[in-house]
Amino acid sequence: MNFYIMTLFPEMVMDGLNTSIIGRAVKNGLLSIEALNIRDYAFNKHHSVDDYPYGGGAGMLMQAEPVYQCYEALTEKIKQKKRARVIYLSPQGQTFNQTMAEEFAQEEDLVFLCGHYEGIDERVLEEIVTDYVSIGDYVLTGGELPAMIMIDCISRLVPGVLHNDVSAEFESFQDNLLEYPQYSRPEVWHDKKVPEVLMSGHHANIEKWRREQSVIRTAKNRPDLLEKAELTKKELELVKSLSEQQ
Ligand code: ADE
Repeated sequence: MNFYIMTLFPEMVMDGLNTSIIGRAVKNGLLSIEALNIRDYAFNKHHSVDDYPYGGGAGMLMQAEPVYQCYEALTEKIKQKKRARVIYLSPQGQTFNQTMAEEFAQEEDLVFLCGHYEGIDERVLEEIVTDYVSIGDYVLTGGELPAMIMIDCISRLVPGVLHNDVSAEFESFQDNLLEYPQYSRPEVWHDKKVPEVLMSGHHANIEKWRREQSVIRTAKNRPDLLEKAELTKKELELVKSLSEQQ
């Protein structure tokens, strides 16, 4: 899978993504990540890419032309059969979630457009952007961190990136339930003992316990997720009794 990031701060995204699991996947050729510097497409001698917004207001706006030229150069370079999706990171977009990550992970190429200052001239967004995505209801200084978050999340769904595909499948948000608690050695730490069932070697009981813990955690921490979770009659009763206790 190939990621292209149009940004004014290429080193920020490349430094962040070239480490750990994503960095390893790039080295192994499972992913490619390329940042394009929008400033390279500035059309004036000062290499500026921003200007005042018409109508007044605070701050500066990224101009349409450098962004457009950067995009044109990219499409010329990658020459896909199918036009790649272009994701503009903005608090005004749809909120990113695991289902969206799974959908984006099916693509061969993805382009991210990172805004800075007060945003980007609307006209170029209308021409090139296919998806508007927010990473949550708060405002950041630019789209670089959101793009990095999305790339991290999408990449780990690409087969081979995690080495162990089972862990991408069975984890938080699988079935709209949060992940159960996990324990490693030692058996006792700060007087806290690992739950007995996990030491029993009885796989059916372990699965049962983990599923119950997932339901309990979700009911306590993210009850909103339970609406979409498929629960058994017994689990529904458990949720009801937990909510009565609170
Ligand atoms: N740019 C600034 N804030 C953002 C957010 N919350 N999500 C995506 N892009 C952003």
